[in-house]
Amino acid sequence: MTVETMPKAGSSAPAPYTYAEQPGLPYLGTMLSFVHDPIAYEVGLRKTADMVATNGFGRRFYAISHPGLIEDVLVTKNAHFRKAAGLRSLTGIFGNGLLTSDGDFWLRQRRLASPAFHRQRIAAYADQMVQFTHRMLDGWRHGGVLDLHQEMMHLTLNVVASCLFGTDTSAEAARIGHALDAVMSLLNNQGLIKLAQSMLRIRTREHRAFDAGIKMLDEVVYGIIHVRKNSDDDRGDLLSMFLAARDEDGSRMSDQQLHDECLTMLIAGHETTALALSWAWYELTQKPEVAALMRAELAQVLGDRAPAVADLSALPYTSQVITETMRLHPPAWNISREALTDVEIGGHTIPAGTEILMSQYAVHRHPDYYDNPDAFKPERWSGDLAKTLPKYAYFPFGGGPRLCIGQQFAQMEAILILATMAQRFDLDLVPGQRIVPQPSITLRPKYGLKVKLRSPRIG
Ligand code: HEM
Repeated sequence: MTVETMPKAGSSAPAPYTYAEQPGLPYLGTMLSFVHDPIAYEVGLRKTADMVATNGFGRRFYAISHPGLIEDVLVTKNAHFRKAAGLRSLTGIFGNGLLTSDGDFWLRQRRLASPAFHRQRIAAYADQMVQFTHRMLDGWRHGGVLDLHQEMMHLTLNVVASCLFGTDTSAEAARIGHALDAVMSLLNNQGLIKLAQSMLRIRTREHRAFDAGIKMLDEVVYGIIHVRKNSDDDRGDLLSMFLAARDEDGSRMSDQQLHDECLTMLIAGHETTALALSWAWYELTQKPEVAALMRAELAQVLGDRAPAVADLSALPYTSQVITETMRLHPPAWNISREALTDVEIGGHTIPAGTEILMSQYAVHRHPDYYDNPDAFKPERWSGDLAKTLPKYAYFPFGGGPRLCIGQQFAQMEAILILATMAQRFDLDLVPGQRIVPQPSITLRPKYGLKVKLRSPRIG
């Protein structure tokens, strides 16, 4: 392996940055390390150099962790890239929805969906977010024990279904959760046995559970579309926008496309926010002094009244708790692109068809950008860090044209839910459980997150 320092070479990246070649084993390249521990693998690549050329299964790819180079890929030169094969393969789940589609088709759909995510429109969702949280908390009792991650998944699913589709999924949230677990579990390619099974195309019990999960999700989504189509009810929400959309020739979106867009929003729009909340609470249980500061802010600004959208700017510390959580535990922990043409990045020609990996997890813990990078310190965001940091040293929502469409929705939702929960309960981690991140598409707590509830008013 060689590491060299590169000149600026026409990129927006501040020079110098380092470049290394890490070919690994014949054919397998460095994939054994990836399969063994994907998180450690990505952090290891970042430690090796800002740009690492490596191999996997006979194909060369690049891992970049320099913010300027990430900006080149996601923003400046984004037209030379499309989503990488791993994400495109998710069409088996999402179909041709916003997350997986590309080119002109994607652009048209993105423009159609955008009004549902405008700032003013989102503000109107705030009350529903708080109401659903209260409904969940009404079922909680002092001393009760529950899996917080499951609760957060159900809550954020209900929120997104209600805000974007005017549907109440409360009764089905648990079933939908099981279906999603089955679907996501197959996508978690960790482990040599799974790798071998997928290479040999062996169908397992997991594959059957996956098929059943997809069937169940399809039923839910087609059910939502069917009810609205038959009601002629224009609620002005995302589903109404999709139903009202017409092509130049006047044709409507097909049922299949409606399904793909809605399913994409349901899945992309709830698990990530649920993870931000789960990991935030995990950190708060570890750092009582942070929890105390947050509660003090909530008490001072809100007292006993429910938070509203107008309160958000007065809750900087609560907001920093979410920002810091997504730094240490980015729910979407890496993103990849594939070059459509030969393109120059960091002074190197990336040949068409080559993939580039950008790991939020690894970059967000880079000691060049964050002091004591592995420590949970919301107060690090209280000064001008956000302004002085290179833009892509923090990118939990991606960037460029493919920036998360739900960013503002998610940020508002996470703060409102966290605040509402903290007003009514304190959480303690149940001792003796293993809390480890499971690096699939998202970064879930592998064995859940069991907590014991404490009402601050009781003790
Ligand atoms: C904390 C919460 C969230 C995080 C961390 C997150 C993260 C991301 C990231 C990193 C991407 C870009 C992926 C790439 O470039 O390859 C993305 C895209 C997307 N997200 Fe989110 N997301 C969150 C919440 C939401 C919400 C609430 C919604 C919808 C209600 C949503 C819907 C989408 C969609 C549809 C895309 C694809 C956008 C496009 O390509 O045009 N996300 N998200």
